[in-house]
Amino acid sequence: MQNVILDLETEMVERPNVYELPTSSDNLTWYARAVERMKTRPSTDPTSWHYQGAIHGFNPLNPYWNGVGQLPSQQEQDDYWRQCQHGSWYFLPWHRMYLAYFEQIVGAAIVELGGPADWALPFWNYSDSANPNALTIPSAFTTPADSSNPLWMPNRNDTLNPDYVTLEALNVEPYTGDGITRPLGFGGPETVFSHSGRTHGALERLPHDMVHVDIGGAMGNPQTAALDPIFWLHHANIDRLWQVWLNQGGRVNPTENNWTDFTFDFHDSQGQPTVMNVGDVQDTTQILRGYTYQGVPAALPAAPAPRLALAAAIPFEIVGAANAPLALGSAPQQMDLAVASSSRRAARGRSSAQASGVTYLHFENITGTGAPPVYDVYLNLPSGTAGDTG
Ligand code: C2O
Repeated sequence: MQNVILDLETEMVERPNVYELPTSSDNLTWYARAVERMKTRPSTDPTSWHYQGAIHGFNPLNPYWNGVGQLPSQQEQDDYWRQCQHGSWYFLPWHRMYLAYFEQIVGAAIVELGGPADWALPFWNYSDSANPNALTIPSAFTTPADSSNPLWMPNRNDTLNPDYVTLEALNVEPYTGDGITRPLGFGGPETVFSHSGRTHGALERLPHDMVHVDIGGAMGNPQTAALDPIFWLHHANIDRLWQVWLNQGGRVNPTENNWTDFTFDFHDSQGQPTVMNVGDVQDTTQILRGYTYQGVPAALPAAPAPRLALAAAIPFEIVGAANAPLALGSAPQQMDLAVASSSRRAARGRSSAQASGVTYLHFENITGTGAPPVYDVYLNLPSGTAGDTG
């Protein structure tokens, strides 16, 4: 056991795109073997397949739970099962934690089976228009289509409707909002612990919910969804999209203590109880051994001002615009931009010194031929001075 712990202290991993795994990759072979191994463990073992699935949801009357066997004590079930957060601003961080421990548990099973110590959970990017197979569940999950394949599940729809995998959610700037008193947020409404909240945030609605519904079978119901091995690749993609959203800039996670200080209970790869804090899972490189996503920079956008999220929720007011196009060449160019004082600010009786707004400089319709050069933009450069690149 000691070795297993040490082996998992490996460097940060990159979660791969399941459709870009090299043909030589044995990632899914090891995943299948680990799932098979986890299924042999009793449901009282936190590292078993059933226990992991029940953390998300559990209903002993649902046929997908046939064969669950002996259950942990009611107290333990109350503390660790049926925990998934939906219709909540905890939707993203809770599922992120859930995946991080699951990845570690699968990784430990792989090491136990003699496999590599650097296994990482792949993600399924069903919205990738450059991939002709993107809408189809990767074949390792469907072939062979019987219980000899640990990644297979009955009653699945193997191909998604393209209308269900669109990414408009990425355009939603505020993280939080209920769609009633405030616009619907990217990450869900502010709630307390919310196992089955109804008002889903933009990303949770689409693509998240529709992918579940469309695949159907166990995936179509939160009480059974995590029993399907494809669940975890779907959620790795949702988790990746959280980072993609942040990387666009002008987007920030909640800063309220009710979000950052909230904690959830899990078990680690040794089956030991553990607690994670929402505020601590914002940077994926700092979670357990740390991870990034193939093709997605992990870095947060440089110094995101918390104010941006607020400003984004308020309609913009144009305070100035250039009235003619500007042709750029290799020499410095200058233009005057008359800025009127903000009527909204004036209405509040604020002087510009008290103003708390953010002013954006917006460039539109930039066209050209050839490789784009770099232009520096200076505001209010004192006349006679040159920019720092001369
Ligand atoms: Cu907790 Cu995709 O569900």
